[in-house]
Amino acid sequence: MLTVSVVATKGGVGKTTDAANLAGLLADFGYRVLLIDADIQPSLTRYFKLSFRAPHGLSKMVMSGALTPECISHVELPPDTFTAATAEMNANGGYIHLVCSDAKGSDSALQIWMSNQLDRLVRIRIALNNPAVQESYDVCIIDTQGAVGYLQDAAVNAADVLLAPVAPDVLSAREFIDGILMLIGRHEATANLGYKVPAIQCVINKTENTVDSRTMSQLIREQFLEMRGRVNVLETSIPHLVAFKKAATAQVPAHWIDPTKVSDAMHSFLWELIPSLRGQFVPSHRGQLTAAPQAAQATAESSSTEQKSVAQGG
Ligand SMILES: Nc1ncnc2c1ncn2[C@@H]1O[C@H](COP(=O)(O)OP(=O)(O)OP(=O)(O)O)[C@@H](O)[C@H]1O
Ligand SMILES: [Mg+2]
Repeated sequence: MLTVSVVATKGGVGKTTDAANLAGLLADFGYRVLLIDADIQPSLTRYFKLSFRAPHGLSKMVMSGALTPECISHVELPPDTFTAATAEMNANGGYIHLVCSDAKGSDSALQIWMSNQLDRLVRIRIALNNPAVQESYDVCIIDTQGAVGYLQDAAVNAADVLLAPVAPDVLSAREFIDGILMLIGRHEATANLGYKVPAIQCVINKTENTVDSRTMSQLIREQFLEMRGRVNVLETSIPHLVAFKKAATAQVPAHWIDPTKVSDAMHSFLWELIPSLRGQFVPSHRGQLTAAPQAAQATAESSSTEQKSVAQGG
């Protein structure tokens, strides 16, 4: 099971949207997806319609250190309220299970409990490392709150892949850069305990076709150039599209609402995040996806080599 934690130190940059939509796309591929809402504001918990609401959720999972069926809710895909043609949607039998957030507010019982636990950093990792959990799901995606805290720390510690969305505006970019550096510093200290912090994959979210948006995107890329390996800015950026809001209202993945632009961006995003999926599409995809940057470069290089050898041969 691959665990992706979505982190950012700024609110409203698209963490929950990215987590829900990656989960929806992966389920459409046929994967078994586990979503964990580790935010004290339970937006991911409310994103999808549930066919089964478990009596417990995040608090029980973290406190007991075990992910048991009484903590696992089931997402209804497609929901019975969704009226579009659904024949190609979720056709491969994938599904999303959800650990709902029940830790409302920073003074919740879970937060207070964690503050007294010396092993709070590894509580999510312990629950997920159970062989039964590892065998039951292909991917786990953890959504976190936009601030440093015990739950964010535990989500970072549990991750194989760290995803950090950023919006291309001045305030977001500044806060993002400082926040990411702080997050890296904070977690690199755990190297002494034997934990490796995965590289942070940064995705620029809500880009617009404006000079300002392009300038800020460029600035973010330049800022992290020298930190390559520890912070990678993905080539794919996710455009600001109304389908993301519509999808949240309809409680479905956004690529169902917009099977061209959103679907293209989400595929390209997923391929960079999980390169083993590169070149694969879900059945509902209608876009005109061009080759991903590395693939395009490789093709260009191989065709120039071919031309060279043809020229040499001639
Ligand atoms: N690419 C996008 N295009 C258009 N709207 C978007 C996009 N990504 C996110 N949004 C919208 O931006 C708002 C904030 O997104 P979201 O809730 O995912 O952010 P967040 O980082 O999880 O926020 P919080 O820190 O409060 O948890 C939502 O209304 C969402 O629909
Ligand atoms: Mg959120």
